[in-house]
Amino acid sequence: MQIDVLTLFPNMFETVMSESMMWKARDRKLLNFYAHDIRDYANNKWRKVDDTPYGGGGGMILKPDVVVRSIEAVKGDDNETPVILMSPQGRVFNHDIAVELSGHERLILVCGHYEGFDERIRQLAITDEISIGDYVLTGGELAAMVVVDAVVRQIPGVLGAEGAQHRDSHADGLLEGPHYTRPPEFRGLGIPDVLTSGHHGKVDEWRRREAIKRTWQNRPDLLETVDLTDAEKDYIAQLAQDKSHNDDD
Ligand code: ADE
Repeated sequence: MQIDVLTLFPNMFETVMSESMMWKARDRKLLNFYAHDIRDYANNKWRKVDDTPYGGGGGMILKPDVVVRSIEAVKGDDNETPVILMSPQGRVFNHDIAVELSGHERLILVCGHYEGFDERIRQLAITDEISIGDYVLTGGELAAMVVVDAVVRQIPGVLGAEGAQHRDSHADGLLEGPHYTRPPEFRGLGIPDVLTSGHHGKVDEWRRREAIKRTWQNRPDLLETVDLTDAEKDYIAQLAQDKSHNDDD
């Protein structure tokens, strides 16, 4: 996969893309990553990329000529590639969108800074718009890094044999349950016996129950779209009953 990012701050990507899994993906030739400086496409004397808004008001607006030129130069004649604007006005990023985007051979992410983009950039050069959550960052760079990380770990081979596809939180609509490693006892806390039983079926069943419990506790909204067996529905009813008893005590 190839990912091109257009940004006014290409250096921001250097460390993130040179460490850990992002570096492994690049080293294994599963990812080609490029951060392009939008300012290189400002062919005015001052390398100016923004200007004041028509109609007044504060802040600076990214200029359509510079940004559209930068996108067109990076895109070339490739009309299949999604050109994604990072902005708090986009569709909210999630696991399904990460999987969807990982199916493309190439992505172009456009990061803004300052007050916003001239609307004609959207009209002329953008095919998708993504937000990473309902809050405003000072620029799209951190949001782009979040998207790149979540997308790249979906590429087969990036995470090794098992991959991200199975046990990740959200992969099956549930949050992941707890994990344990050595030592078997730490500050008086042990580990669940089932994990050392050697019984894989029982371990899987325990993990699924714990995932359901954590989802019910932290993100009950997610349970509305998960396929649950009757036994699992009974288990949730039991959790709710236990909680209401404890709340009464
Ligand atoms: N740029 C500024 N805020 C953002 C957000 N929440 N998501 C994506 N890009 C952004």
